[in-house]
Amino acid sequence: MNSVQQTQRPTSAELDAVDPLAEQREAFYTPDAGQLAAYLDGNSLGRPLKATSAKLASFVQDAWGSRLIRGWDEQWMDEPTRVGDRIGAVTLGAAAGQVTVGDSTSVMLYKLIRAAVDAQPGRDEIVVDRDNFPTDRFIIEGIAAEKGATIKWVASNPASGVRTTDLEGLLSERTAVVVLSHVAYRSGFLADAEAITTLVKDAGALMLWDLCHSVGSVPLELDAWGVDLAVGCTYKYLNGGPGSPAFAYVNAAQQDRLQQPIWGWMGADNPFGMTESYKPAEGIRRFITGTPPVLAMQPLKDMVELIASVGMDAVREKSIKLTEYAVALAEDMLVPLGAEIVSPRNTAERGSHITVDHPLFGEVTQKLWERGVIPDFRPPHGLRIGLSPLSTSYAEVELGMIAIRDALAELL
Ligand SMILES: Cc1ncc(COP(=O)(O)O)c(C=O)c1O
Repeated sequence: MNSVQQTQRPTSAELDAVDPLAEQREAFYTPDAGQLAAYLDGNSLGRPLKATSAKLASFVQDAWGSRLIRGWDEQWMDEPTRVGDRIGAVTLGAAAGQVTVGDSTSVMLYKLIRAAVDAQPGRDEIVVDRDNFPTDRFIIEGIAAEKGATIKWVASNPASGVRTTDLEGLLSERTAVVVLSHVAYRSGFLADAEAITTLVKDAGALMLWDLCHSVGSVPLELDAWGVDLAVGCTYKYLNGGPGSPAFAYVNAAQQDRLQQPIWGWMGADNPFGMTESYKPAEGIRRFITGTPPVLAMQPLKDMVELIASVGMDAVREKSIKLTEYAVALAEDMLVPLGAEIVSPRNTAERGSHITVDHPLFGEVTQKLWERGVIPDFRPPHGLRIGLSPLSTSYAEVELGMIAIRDALAELL
């Protein structure tokens, strides 16, 4: 980029000054100076809200400590679906009664994919892409082994992601379920969920989206798109904290015909009836297994309300501007040092992170972490720069990019 173009680009200070979401950054906890210079990994683990400490303390004292076992009757039995409904309304485009919170993403994936295969007799193929997140692929390998099903691998361009054309020739009357990530964990590619869902359903298969990298950063319209199933984590852009529980979305039209495979008492129709055998609950509750992780659900509730207060469209607008800025800086500072941007250039096809490849980025990441600049590294060479729309400033992106450039230059 020449100097004329460089002077035309606003500075990070100018961008921060006109950012309509700038004041939201105040809502997040900031560690003591020296510990953190730039956090570029909210796509792995979101930062806590300042409100979270007080929220947890109050839960311990007022709810757990004071109500004790009565809390289950008074509040907690419905917490998975109450929190699920709120996630659904604010971030998923889902009407009430279709989302529940609990388990890990991996376990939720197992429950829903296995239920989908079981519900499609005569269909013995599961479609998934080779570049999907390992846990999605591993869970599917396990289910295929258990059920004698065949995996049909989508071979898409790893620097982008799965498009409708990549599914040609893979969908047939044998396809039971298709499992894809809405935003690819490596490239950040944002799939056309509506078009792909339509294609998959036209083939008589069920569509499951992994929303880990899109929930809370990209607007979703699961009901309007006709999505059957979705799973997502809450520790990235929903800032639920390390290991906070996942959510599962099961379209109301599918709930009665799906039977999830881990039959526990909390998903039974009368948990405290101590009945002789399992009968699934009506509706979304049948996708619950054991005692819900109520304590671990508390922090994400404030983040969902923060998102509700600004709206998902504003979140997406900031996310696009942040990734555009990061791409421009990477072009100026990192590409001349031999790095390659391996994320889509088209903003309509990009989620809230970008990945830049260089053979030395493993070593660079170590140096950066020591300096309080925190992106993450995904083998073989990818430095992922995650931009959380509500907590990341443009100044942080610039500072981070300069630090990456300097650390790389030191090693060259
Ligand atoms: C796309 C995707 N799926 C699943 C997971 C993780 O699953 P779990 O929450 O079970 O660790 C991640 C974690 O980063 C992910 O990026």
